[in-house]
Amino acid sequence: MAAASANPTVLVVDFGAQYGQLIARRVRDLGVYSEIIPCDMTAAEVGALDPAAIILSGGPASVYAEDAPSLDPGVLELGVPVLGFCYGQQAMAVALGGEVAHTDKGEYGPAPLALTSEGGASALFAGMPAEQTVWMSHRDAVSRVPEGFVVTSRTDVCPVASMECPERRLYATQFHPEVRHTPFGDEMLANFLFDVCGLERTWTMDSIIQDSVAAIREQVGESRVILGLSGGVDSSVVAALCARAIGRQLTCVFVNHGLLRKGEPEEVEEVFTRQFDVDFVHVHAEDRYAALLAGVTDPEEKRHIIGSQFWKEFFAVAEELAEDGRPVQFLAQGTIYPDIIESGARKTGGKASTIKSHHNLIPFPEGVSFELIEPLDHFFKDEVRALGTALGLPDYIVQRQPFPGPGLAIRIIGEVTLAKLALLKDADAIVREELDAYNQAAWEEDGERPVWQYFAVLPDVRSVGVMGDERTYGYPVILRAVESSDAMTADWAKLPYELLTKISTRITSEVEGINRVVYDITSKPPATIEWE
Ligand code: XMP
Repeated sequence: MAAASANPTVLVVDFGAQYGQLIARRVRDLGVYSEIIPCDMTAAEVGALDPAAIILSGGPASVYAEDAPSLDPGVLELGVPVLGFCYGQQAMAVALGGEVAHTDKGEYGPAPLALTSEGGASALFAGMPAEQTVWMSHRDAVSRVPEGFVVTSRTDVCPVASMECPERRLYATQFHPEVRHTPFGDEMLANFLFDVCGLERTWTMDSIIQDSVAAIREQVGESRVILGLSGGVDSSVVAALCARAIGRQLTCVFVNHGLLRKGEPEEVEEVFTRQFDVDFVHVHAEDRYAALLAGVTDPEEKRHIIGSQFWKEFFAVAEELAEDGRPVQFLAQGTIYPDIIESGARKTGGKASTIKSHHNLIPFPEGVSFELIEPLDHFFKDEVRALGTALGLPDYIVQRQPFPGPGLAIRIIGEVTLAKLALLKDADAIVREELDAYNQAAWEEDGERPVWQYFAVLPDVRSVGVMGDERTYGYPVILRAVESSDAMTADWAKLPYELLTKISTRITSEVEGINRVVYDITSKPPATIEWE
């Protein structure tokens, strides 16, 4: 992706899932562009990417384990500054003839670190106190540093907590500067990037927008682009970016399946017809979806119907657009960097090409083909949100929580009917209103939004209640509110009783037909976040 190539790049060699992402994010937060590469790339392949610096991540393996990932020693001979963390330090030591030993005692959690003065003052620790706390997580440790290296810090348990060979600009730590539990971690990274490597803060929102706009213009030329706008964060940001780059060459197709949350279709239409100068097509497919979903109760069947109908609606618009003799050549998508990393894609040399497997999932009809443009394919989610804000998208779009493509259809257990949809939309709107306020208050107080995702679910049962003097026989609503960081695991949110009471009271009194509210107190696993 050309947007990235204008910037000096720090490559993070990933020795274990997650570590690489965290490091790349920290580097980017410091204003330097960073990408993750797999650890089995050869020195020649790494060199071809022309990195400004290399960081070796931690990893769960022991360097002496049978299939432990190893580092091509040539990577350390490229003349590029290298910084290794944890497993990265051990891999560096082994690659250069040092030794790593199993220690009797592991070291996990915070550890007091003392700087040594063996090699004079280390550039990595410049401006820091002689003693500080760092985060450790290891059993093995370097027992003999390679020739030419000096030990720059130690802990009670770990004799080589960091080492370096400043002449060759090779640095390493046994601890993890990338985690927040190492209070001076960011300073260490900054010392490496700016003092050791001489880099500058070029990865700024302005440069990101400028580079992305230029890249889109170059790729698209005078051609026409179509985008499936769902109202979610990613597709909205792609739309805003393409609007800036190519204006009316872009057509945003918003397929309204009637399964969005209350108020959302109106919000999307408002933003993309008033605020951005793009061609916006609102496809009112609510009736067609309602007919297709009638009588369907199986969750997978619902998903399938909704997904395949989306593409039918979408291609129908593309065909209609082409009737004026200007066919649509490009399809824009909101693929983001973690999608690429998780699909196991890898760089193939040069900064411009990335292979993705998930493209094949789009069921293009016979004879239809588009070139893809994916302007967010190098951005993390929080960067996508920042980009959206910088491009002028309102907070209610940029801060939107994850919402499944099949929408409310998979939050209505059993058959989806218009009447049930109306009940769920109203109840869900109350849940969102109350929890938005709760999250916002927490954000203002301590900078965190404690509840990650929250919504209402309508089960396929009814129960007896009493209102006034009347017996009722209505639906319950299930409140789902979870804490999570990546949706892979989640815990139910320990909401204050008063808030639960307020939500319950509001729903039962404001939504006619709902006479009971229950709270889902199951974590993931064993449950999932959604009910279907
Ligand atoms: P589960 O229910 O598997 O959900 O714990 C994990 C996260 O993914 C979202 N989700 C979906 N997102 N299409 C999507 O785009 C889907 O079909 C879908 N199903 C679940 C869910 O909201 C949660 O954040």
